[in-house]
Amino acid sequence: MNYIKDTNKKRVTVEVLKIMKQQKQKICCLTAYDALFARIFEEAGIDLILVGDSLANVFQGKETTLSVTLDEIIYHTKAVKKGANNTFIVADMPFMTYQITPDKAVKNAGKLLKETDCNAVKLEGCTTKIIQAIEYMNETGIPVMGHLGLTPQSINKFGNYKTRGIEKNEAKKIIDDAYKLEKAGVFAIVLEKIPSSLAKEISENISIPTIGIGAGNCCDGQILVCSDMLGLNIDFAPRFVRRYSELYDTVKNAVNNYSNDVRDTKFPNENESY
Ligand code: KIV
Repeated sequence: MNYIKDTNKKRVTVEVLKIMKQQKQKICCLTAYDALFARIFEEAGIDLILVGDSLANVFQGKETTLSVTLDEIIYHTKAVKKGANNTFIVADMPFMTYQITPDKAVKNAGKLLKETDCNAVKLEGCTTKIIQAIEYMNETGIPVMGHLGLTPQSINKFGNYKTRGIEKNEAKKIIDDAYKLEKAGVFAIVLEKIPSSLAKEISENISIPTIGIGAGNCCDGQILVCSDMLGLNIDFAPRFVRRYSELYDTVKNAVNNYSNDVRDTKFPNENESY
């Protein structure tokens, strides 16, 4: 780990992430949902792990993220924490756990931190109630990450997963919302599927890190859904995903080989038996 050039600190904190932005060190983030992958990501030196509500798509095979519950996020975050105890872990707040009232939002965020030992929570959007909730969480000592651009929890409002902020008014709203979130006290903002020029403008004008997914190369950090970048989810191939592995094929081949060996009574052999 080469961040925090001026200190010996190794652990990522909210403050460290800000310093990384100031020192122009890119922040590397991935989603994780279980202890096995979380451990690998920690050993590989990932700066931040998000237990995303994308677990609905990745883990539960669902079309949208809307049905994810607080208890499901808690379950997966506990597992991730077991595997990556030294990594900065952000837990996603599921749909309708933070939008109703600031009181309910703080209660649910507090439950996430208390039960999972994660470091922060993430929520989508920028309504008046959400801004109040962020301010309240900040006062309470709960770090919050924002999420603008494509916000999958609003799929029924938009009706599609297309790029956001292409049209001038929408771009302006995303910029305004980024300022509002910064003022309310979020420690970072995920920018999802917006033009890179827009992400650049936001990143250059706010003091907190931007973490891009489909938002170009000028964000302060990047995040991808782990199963996408590992090539496990072959049905999802938007242009912003780069596959660093082809695990779907690797796993399929391994399972084929195993099955053939079992059928041919080649597994287990003598060394593998008692
Ligand atoms: O749920 C998720 O995985 C996310 C990322 C796409 C940022 O919100």
